[in-house]
Amino acid sequence: MLSSVRPVLERIAFKAGSPVSSRGLKSLKIGLIPGDGIGKEVIPAGRQVLEALPVEDGLKFQFVDLIAGFECFKATGVALPEETVKVLQEECDGALFGAVSSPTTKVAGYSSPIVALRKKLGLYANVRPVKSVGDDRPVDMVIVRENTEDLYVKEEKIWTLEDGSKVAEAIKRITEKASYNIGKVAFELAVQRGASRAASAIPTLHPNGPIVTITHKSNVLSTTDGLFRETVRKVYENNKDKYEGVQVQEQIVDSMVYRLFREPEIFDVVVAPNLYGDILSDGAAALVGSLGVIPSANVGDSFVIGEPCHGSAPDIEGKNIANPIATIRSTALMLEFMGYAKPAARIHAAVDAHMVEKKLRTPDLGGSATTTQVTEDIIKRL
Ligand code: NAI
Ligand code: MG
Repeated sequence: MLSSVRPVLERIAFKAGSPVSSRGLKSLKIGLIPGDGIGKEVIPAGRQVLEALPVEDGLKFQFVDLIAGFECFKATGVALPEETVKVLQEECDGALFGAVSSPTTKVAGYSSPIVALRKKLGLYANVRPVKSVGDDRPVDMVIVRENTEDLYVKEEKIWTLEDGSKVAEAIKRITEKASYNIGKVAFELAVQRGASRAASAIPTLHPNGPIVTITHKSNVLSTTDGLFRETVRKVYENNKDKYEGVQVQEQIVDSMVYRLFREPEIFDVVVAPNLYGDILSDGAAALVGSLGVIPSANVGDSFVIGEPCHGSAPDIEGKNIANPIATIRSTALMLEFMGYAKPAARIHAAVDAHMVEKKLRTPDLGGSATTTQVTEDIIKRL
C-alpha cells in the first residue's frame, strides 16, 4: 500500500536498528507477543516470513518472545507484565502482537493488554488497510482509527437507584490533541496513497484524487463527536496547501455502515474515533472475504506494533486452520512504518500472488488448507 510512511508521518523518527554489519545487513529486534488463542498460531507465521526475506533486502532479525494476555493473567495475575513493556520500550525496534482473549463478563483485575499497550507506548493511530485482490469486489480503503481514547478510556461506573434498579455509565472522551493527531495521519496517508496511485499504471478506484471521509455521529453527540469532526477538518483547513487535491467528505456512522456495504469502492481513507473505527474495520473485513486477511499497524511517533485485526478466535483455536494472512500483512505494515518499503512490498506482493491463485485457502475463505500450508506457500513466493 504505502511506499514508505516514515517521510509521510513527519514526526515519526524510529530507531534505525543496529548499525549495518560487515555483511551489509541491518539488524532489527522485533518483540513477539502472541497472546492467546490463534495469536499463538499466527505470530509464528509472521516470524517465519521475516526470517525468509532474502539477504538483498538488507535486514536481519532478532526476536524476543514476550508475554501478555488472559492466559498470562491467569498464570501470573497480570495481563500486561511490566517487563513486556520495558523490553519493548528499551530494546525493540518494532513488535508483532497476535490477539488476546477478553472475557465478556468482568473479571476482577483483568483489563485488555493491547488497549493498555497502545496507550503506554503512545501508539495513537491504528491503520487498517482493506483491499480486495484479483477478481473480488473492488475495495481499496484504509480505515484510520483513533487508538487511545473515546469509550476505550474504560472509565465506567455502576450504581443502584433507590428503587433497586441499576444504572451504568461510561465516559466517552474525545480530545482536540488526539483528534488532530489522527486527522493528520489520515490526510498524510491520503496524500501518499494519491501520489503512489498517480505513479502507478494500474487503474485506480479513486481516479479523481484522494478522499478523506470523516466518520462521526455529531448529529447526536454534537459535543464529543462534534469536537472530533471539527478538529479533523481543522487539520485540512490549517494545511490547505499541503492537502490540496484531497477531497474531504463526511459520513454519519450509521449511514457509513450502509454505504460501506452498498458501495465500498467509493471509500479511500476513512478516519474515525476509536469505537466506530473498530466496528467499521471488522465490517469492512466481510467485504474482502474474512477477518483473517485484514492487517493493522498501531503507530506512534517512535514505535510501531503490527497486529492482525482479528481476535483470539477460540472457535478455531488449536486446529492449525487460522488464516495467517492478516498477521503476515501486519509484518509488512510494521516494516513500512519503520521505513523499510522494499521488503514490505515484497511481502504484500507474495500475499497477493498467493491470494489471486485461490489454490490454498484456509476454511474462513472456503478452502481446507492449514495455517502451515498457507504460510509456506507465501514464503515460497517472497
Ligand atoms: P474474533 O476476531 O476472534 O473471531 C470472529 C470470527 O472470525 C470467528 O468466527 C473466528 O473464527 C473468525 N476469525 C478470526 N480471525 C480468524 C483467522 N485469522 N482465520 C480464520 N478465522 C478467523 O472475534 P470474537 O469471536 O468476537 O472474539 C474472540 C476473543 O478475541 C474475545 O475474547 C475478544 O475479546 C478477543 N478479541 C481480541 C482482540 C485483540 O486482541 N486485539 C480483537 C478482537 C477480539
Ligand atoms: Mg476489533
